[in-house]
Amino acid sequence: CWLCNKPVGNISGIMKTSLIARDRVGIQDFVLLDAHNSETAFLDNLKKRFTEDLIYTYIGTLLISVNPYKELDIYTKKQMDLYMGVNFFELPPHIYALADNVYHTMLSEANNNFILISGESGAGKTEASKKILQYYAVSCPSSTLLDTVRDRMLMSNPVLEAFGNAKTMKNDNSSRFGKYMDIQFDCQGDAVGGHILSYLLEKSRVVHQNHGERNFHIFYQLVEGGEEDLLRHLGLEKDTKRYSYLVQGECSNVSSINDKNDWKTVKNALSVIDFDANDIEHLFGIIASVLHLGNVHFDGDTKGYATLNTNAALRWLLGIHVQVLHEALTFRKIEAKSEEVLSPFTVDHAIYARDALAKAIYGRAFTWLVNRINESLENKVSKISTVIGLLDIYGFEVFSVNSFEQFCINYCNEKLQQLFIQLTLKAEQEEYEAEGIGWEPVQFFNNKIICDLVEEKHRGIISVLDEECMRPGDATDLTFLDKLEEKMGNHPHFVTYKLADKKTRKSLERGDFRLLHYAGEVTYCVVGFIDKNNDLLYKNIKDVMRLSKNPIIQQCFPATEGDSRRRPETVATQFKNSLLRLTEILTAKEAWYVRCLKSNDNKQPGKFDEVLVRHQVKYLGLMEHLRVRRAGFAYRRRYEVFLKRYKALCPATWPHWKGVPSDGVEKLVQHLGYQPDEYKMGKTKIFIRYARTLFATEDAFEICKHELGKQKRTQKRHFNFFSYIITTKIETCWRGVQARKERDRRAWAVKIIKQFIKGYITRREAKTTDNSEYLAFVRQSYLNRLKDNLPKTVLDKTTWLTPPPVMTETSEILRQLHTRMMVRKYVRGITPQKKAQLQQKVVTSGIFKGKKDSYPSSIAVPFVDTRINEQDINMRVLQTIRHERIKYSVPVVKYDRNGFKPRPRQLILTQAAVYLVEEAKIKQRVDYVSLKGASLSNLGDSVMILHVALNDPKQKGDMILQCDHLFEALTKLAMIANKQNNIKVVQGSIKFEIQAGKEGGVDFSVGQEPMIYKGKNGHLMVVAPRIKSR
Ligand SMILES: Nc1ncnc2c1ncn2[C@@H]1O[C@H](COP(=O)(O)OP(=O)(O)OP(=O)(O)O)[C@@H](O)[C@H]1O
Ligand SMILES: [Mg+2]
Repeated sequence: CWLCNKPVGNISGIMKTSLIARDRVGIQDFVLLDAHNSETAFLDNLKKRFTEDLIYTYIGTLLISVNPYKELDIYTKKQMDLYMGVNFFELPPHIYALADNVYHTMLSEANNNFILISGESGAGKTEASKKILQYYAVSCPSSTLLDTVRDRMLMSNPVLEAFGNAKTMKNDNSSRFGKYMDIQFDCQGDAVGGHILSYLLEKSRVVHQNHGERNFHIFYQLVEGGEEDLLRHLGLEKDTKRYSYLVQGECSNVSSINDKNDWKTVKNALSVIDFDANDIEHLFGIIASVLHLGNVHFDGDTKGYATLNTNAALRWLLGIHVQVLHEALTFRKIEAKSEEVLSPFTVDHAIYARDALAKAIYGRAFTWLVNRINESLENKVSKISTVIGLLDIYGFEVFSVNSFEQFCINYCNEKLQQLFIQLTLKAEQEEYEAEGIGWEPVQFFNNKIICDLVEEKHRGIISVLDEECMRPGDATDLTFLDKLEEKMGNHPHFVTYKLADKKTRKSLERGDFRLLHYAGEVTYCVVGFIDKNNDLLYKNIKDVMRLSKNPIIQQCFPATEGDSRRRPETVATQFKNSLLRLTEILTAKEAWYVRCLKSNDNKQPGKFDEVLVRHQVKYLGLMEHLRVRRAGFAYRRRYEVFLKRYKALCPATWPHWKGVPSDGVEKLVQHLGYQPDEYKMGKTKIFIRYARTLFATEDAFEICKHELGKQKRTQKRHFNFFSYIITTKIETCWRGVQARKERDRRAWAVKIIKQFIKGYITRREAKTTDNSEYLAFVRQSYLNRLKDNLPKTVLDKTTWLTPPPVMTETSEILRQLHTRMMVRKYVRGITPQKKAQLQQKVVTSGIFKGKKDSYPSSIAVPFVDTRINEQDINMRVLQTIRHERIKYSVPVVKYDRNGFKPRPRQLILTQAAVYLVEEAKIKQRVDYVSLKGASLSNLGDSVMILHVALNDPKQKGDMILQCDHLFEALTKLAMIANKQNNIKVVQGSIKFEIQAGKEGGVDFSVGQEPMIYKGKNGHLMVVAPRIKSR
């Protein structure tokens, strides 16, 4: 070691001591087992660890778990905390380490993952899957909403186990259905939802259990644990022995199972997963119905037909009329041509129909339950980002008598083994390719041949079975066996009594066939294969079920079901297809494996049955997996991880390596004296060929760690002695750091200022790298200033900020937009009255704009409807003219045509004429036809002359009027009398007619004071005030 000058080159010496130390707890990762080809060494290691209660061991990232059959203190919250976010290989192997690694891989690589948990029945798959789920429940981030999702996910387990698990000879809590569960995460890693897929429930268990086995747990839980009221309501007695469907296995009580407690757990779980009282009542109504159905017994009449001598049990069946049920259970409806004929059942037939019904009810209710749980697990929070799938399926199983169910279950395990082989080999090969390292092929047993034997189209066992189920004529289980023998005769993994040699024949019955599965031989008894595969339920029974008042049953037997004339797919084919879909789901995800091993066959704590374990190690292909992992290289790690751990072993990499990690690793291993054949450098990882090389490195690291610790302690002793120097040194360093920081800051500032100046100089030029930032700054600051200085009204034409050259065009566009926006705003705010006013002002503008001096000052003065209210007009006048409808009135001063004497008058405009009124007298009326027009001067005075057509001799002459509301009055007149074009603005003087043929004149001028008087020339003189703007 370069720190202590101890030779780490003496690798073998160090190895010996450290290996002995390690031996006591075995090796945590089989990849590091030197004798990796030895099954005995493999088993020894497993056993060593098992006896120390170390049930977990790795092969790389694959986790082996050996069932301890006792509670271990390794699943506490403390343990969970320990494994959270810790590097996979830093702590002893654990299911939590795997779960954590999957979770972090999912988060960092944003991909979908699944954990395949496999092993034979009773090996601990379901327990492992529960541990993983519990780990995620504790370790994932949470919120109140997510807590609900989390609780529901956890609680779905006891419910599904109650309905889908049962005691078998192999396992007191054996899963009798396959379960694949997706845990859905959002991109922050919160568990936001879940989804469960279930696979082929072993329905036959509902009506039949082998000796030593039980029906599904839920039946016992309900009968043993159900509250008095509930049981009374369901017509049940608190005694499992009273129910035919519960007594066949003769073991309703099992020491490891507490049905009463489990009942409470299930009831509580149901409420957590959002089942209300109605759901629960209906669900247990179904369970009770199945029990009652099992108690329906048939007698034979004289002809051997089935009769029912009591309807007692039927009373409790799903709210269906007893008589209807009675008929459906004892007769079969046959559709002959257009007629329906009732054909009585024999006793056997009736029992068959009853059991078929019980299985159908239970099976369909189970499917309903899974769907209902899925509804409650549905993600309602956010977008799903990634998922972790958990596959816990029934394990490989061999009983003394194996039937159709075992055939399906073992085929399923065969498929999963096949998937495992494909994925692990593929993954390993891909890693070598990705890292640019040569691949050395490994020999392994491929079970594809057995999968094909079962599932191949037209040739596999399932095809033969289906053919036999569908062909017309008398197909029986034995004819099926004949067909199998015909087709599979030569297959190396298939044997029957007929095909076997003498020796093998001894262990076979005539109705058996034997398959050589990857996990061992299994002999299947063909009895029941055809029926179970058909899974037929008579149509009239289905029709009767539809009459049920139980809403779950109504959903389970939908009215549409009977419609299809097509024959439904057989059970085996459905199962085969669902496995195919499962394989597709899984291959799209990254795979992780937990391989569960059974330590002994008697569920005995701490017992390690070497023969049994050896067999599992063999058929699970663990040795082969190890060989694949070890093909060439026992160990590989990412460069960063390797360097982080071992950097202290080389002065060049300690305490920090500044370069690329792979170079650091190269330096490090050269320093350690790795021989060229001992390792290979991949693209991202180092591959180490022999375990012993790694051990030596690890041991050197242990020594080095020790030395580092020692050095630290020594340094402490010398601390006071050197403290002054160190303090000074630190201070100097600190000042240096500060100064360097300041220097960098200034350099940065200089650069920015220079750039700014250059930008200013070139601001009028086209955009270049020199001025682009400056121009951006100019643009931004102009826009900011403009924003705070916008004109407030449309009339304001001066406020707009002058733009910098680069913004000229933009500014103009913005100005137009802003004006338009203000106009819009203004227009939207205009009332109908204001609108009418404006329309009048437009007319005024058309007549006077730019013509009369006083016009501009009048613009802002609003027009009113009238200047004289009706009550101020004399009654007599009103009576005379009202019928013409008064439109406008205004006070005026009338000048006599002869002497120009001023007289106050009211000017009234009606619909038809203009009136000049003095108190009660109408002094002059000019109808609009006779009104020629009006004249006025261009100056600032307020005089107007109304010209009258003098074709009538009675008619008086033109009117000379002064009006303070000149523009208003004239505009009203112009609009009412339609005289817009007859109003003239005149310069100098205006002629008027005193009477027909006699003219007078009005002269206009500008003066200091406004005046109106009779001039010496006999004209009316009007002096208008001087108006400034002119
Ligand atoms: N990690 C463990 N710690 C303690 N006991 C365990 C552990 N794993 C399994 N067991 C015991 O083994 C029994 C069987 O395990 P489990 O139900 O998980 O088997 P399985 O592989 O799911 O079997 P099957 O295929 O029949 O469903 C459990 O009920 C439990 O008693
Ligand atoms: Mg299980």
